[in-house]
Amino acid sequence: MNESTTITVDRKQSHVETCLNKNVGFDSKTTGFEQYEFTHNAAPEINHSEIDLSTSLFGCRISYPFMISSMTGGYDKAEHLNRSFAETAQKLNIPLGVGSMRQALENSSYRESFRVVRHVAPSVPVLANIGAPEVAKGLTDQELGLLVDIVRADGLIIHLNPAQELFQPEGNTNFKNFLEELQQLVRTLKVPVIAKEVGCGISPGTAAALADAGVQIIDVAGAGGISWQKVEEERYLQKFQHENRFSPSALGELLNWGIPTSRCLTDIAALKKNKREYRHIGVIASGGISNGIDIAKAIALGADLCASAGMMLKALHDCRLEETIVTWMNDLRAVMFLTGAKDIQQLQQTPISSKKE
Ligand SMILES: Cc1cc2nc3c(=O)[nH]c(=O)nc-3n(C[C@H](O)[C@H](O)[C@H](O)COP(=O)(O)O)c2cc1C
Repeated sequence: MNESTTITVDRKQSHVETCLNKNVGFDSKTTGFEQYEFTHNAAPEINHSEIDLSTSLFGCRISYPFMISSMTGGYDKAEHLNRSFAETAQKLNIPLGVGSMRQALENSSYRESFRVVRHVAPSVPVLANIGAPEVAKGLTDQELGLLVDIVRADGLIIHLNPAQELFQPEGNTNFKNFLEELQQLVRTLKVPVIAKEVGCGISPGTAAALADAGVQIIDVAGAGGISWQKVEEERYLQKFQHENRFSPSALGELLNWGIPTSRCLTDIAALKKNKREYRHIGVIASGGISNGIDIAKAIALGADLCASAGMMLKALHDCRLEETIVTWMNDLRAVMFLTGAKDIQQLQQTPISSKKE
């Protein structure tokens, strides 16, 4: 393994360990979901046992409006994690994403840690993953083909993580030409593209630019869950400080930088409502989703699907992954019953109000 691959492998492993063992949540910002409430419907006119939580992603019917977000792959222990995520995704019939596949492009050592996902979850949507800096550099047709083939992906997620790269001791902060390269990539690729942040959110302006480049779905991954500035700051303090590398000053405002998840959803919903050309954009809500009520609120605020990473990792670590997702779905169903929404389409039309109003 060359030096660059060793760094990528170490980084992926330390991300999991840091997220499990350190306090890396936003401390002066929330998702904003707590500011919203539904109106109780005392005559819901539906049967609780007939509520339908199913929906679809890229033409594939899935049992719940929920996916396990992109996290890992590319080092030895990641195979076990990805296998466990995939077993639950297959059992519950929900999509899942793998973590950044940059390491798999660098060499073949740990490709099995990604491939395992498709072996274990043959019939659910599986999403490949690569970062915006790699896209900005320009990926060859062969590299793009490899990303999709390794997991027989139904779609490719491109993560936009400028704040994370900025705080990452070995980060790549060159995002020049990204949108132009993205447009080219979308034209070449045989599967649809999802663009996601990793915890700083996506504004309506950025969503429009991504849609103009051909992206089909925006995963807002807003602020309120894991702060990747804090994750990288922790890694800097643990491993890199002695090397005297550049790191931003860790001012609270930078560590808590980002658009709260609920605001991303309301702002993108307004864009879709006001501008016809953006009506088709699919929206995934993630970034601090932490229970079934958050999921219900996110869908009522404009999401088609929700996703979670950090909480899923912790649940897996505590051997409660399936139980956690089922509990969240039961709570989602409870909110739908109490608001009279019999399916996800009706929940998307259900009024929700800000407590401040
Ligand atoms: C351990 C870990 C590793 C992650 N690695 C990736 C990655 O490789 N690619 C990516 O797009 N997002 C990655 N993420 C970000 C998540 O997909 C998600 O966008 C972010 O953590 C915010 O969601 P959350 O608050 O539910 O965790 C990772 C998250 C975790 C917890």
